[in-house]
Amino acid sequence: MPDFDAIAERYGTPVYVYDLDRLEQAHDDLVRTLPMGSLIYYSLKANPHPALVRRLGGLGARLEVSSAGELAAVLAAGQSSRNVLYTGPGKTPAELGGALAAGVRLFSAESFADIRRIGAAADRHSVRVDCLLRVNAPDAAGGSGLRMTGTSSQFGFDYEQLMAEWAAFRPPAPVSVRGFHFFPLTNARDEATLLDEMTQSIRCAAQLSQRLGIPLELLDLGGGFAAPYAVPGSRPQYTSLRAGLQEALDTWLPERDKGRPLLAFESGRYLVAECGTFLVSVMEVKESRGRAFAVLDAGINALGGLSATGRLLPVSVGPEDTGRQGPTCTADLVGPLCTPLDRLGRQVRLNGLTPGDVLRVPNTGAYGLTASLLGFLSRPVAAEVIVSSGHVQETSRLALVRTTEGEMRQ
Ligand SMILES: Cc1ncc(COP(=O)(O)O)c(C=O)c1O
Repeated sequence: MPDFDAIAERYGTPVYVYDLDRLEQAHDDLVRTLPMGSLIYYSLKANPHPALVRRLGGLGARLEVSSAGELAAVLAAGQSSRNVLYTGPGKTPAELGGALAAGVRLFSAESFADIRRIGAAADRHSVRVDCLLRVNAPDAAGGSGLRMTGTSSQFGFDYEQLMAEWAAFRPPAPVSVRGFHFFPLTNARDEATLLDEMTQSIRCAAQLSQRLGIPLELLDLGGGFAAPYAVPGSRPQYTSLRAGLQEALDTWLPERDKGRPLLAFESGRYLVAECGTFLVSVMEVKESRGRAFAVLDAGINALGGLSATGRLLPVSVGPEDTGRQGPTCTADLVGPLCTPLDRLGRQVRLNGLTPGDVLRVPNTGAYGLTASLLGFLSRPVAAEVIVSSGHVQETSRLALVRTTEGEMRQ
């Protein structure tokens, strides 16, 4: 366990601490959850810190990126671009060109226009690329989690559109379609939901492949593996997913060759949420009309929880996480920004509360720093500290830097 007090003292707050031992544990748990031989893609959108990418890459994870910046993080972590799957709608010719120049050869195509753009970029670079077709399944299996497809969506080809239009479509010459990509939902806590969605994806892939003659060499079933966000708690364990997936594969792809299709899964939050702890200091405790406010030295500029999406942050800290003993009190945790929306938690119960206290917000390794309003009010970005076996390995701080027009062209 990292010495959080010493880290706060040495590097100041706000600061994120990522414990690589816990990252490794999450990876091991996910490997055990999935059918043997499955590929696990780490989704950098959850946290692009190169030290996390390096450790996961070292454990055998592949890397799912959706931007030039995420690809740069992969390369900064010393990982091979050949282990990258490049996903996302609206890929620009410039970013596709950059990805190809860096050696990326596997893309997820989200639409006919997207596959044409991928083909055109490959053509310009005189290379061949592999593509998965991202599919928006005809309906949703239901259950918990945030839905991405299975409804009207900007993501993927609608299943029925593929069925109707693929036969007349000629994929660009440099593109080889190798299979399908699904990502129907994220953060599904219950196992039945996950299994239903993945079973539906396997069925769709089998039907599309059989009816349209699309090769099924690689089948990316996405993920949706859940993790707590900025509240105490632990990751769910999906104890029967492996067996359930095996059954679904036997049902829908009974005549598959050994090892084909190669199965792939994607995960951001499950892999990295638990390894992160956010340390933030109490600057002041004030009362206003009978309500207590703990004013912190950072708020949604450092722990934003995708705050631009308008969702309320759930932040809460365990009784031990003020690091002190004292009578229990209840306060709103608010940041220093000039907006009443800068509120990390409402009516949070704490063990005593005094200016100078350092709060430890658990489970903040995913969608923490880089999902925050980093530029708003131009405050310094929180530092990030990497810990392994209880020892600090490295410390860094992201910076927002203004570049001039000349520098932009370089
Ligand atoms: C295509 C895709 N892959 C992976 C992820 C990562 O999701 P999570 O962090 O919930 O595992 C997302 C999240 O939205 C996604 O859209």
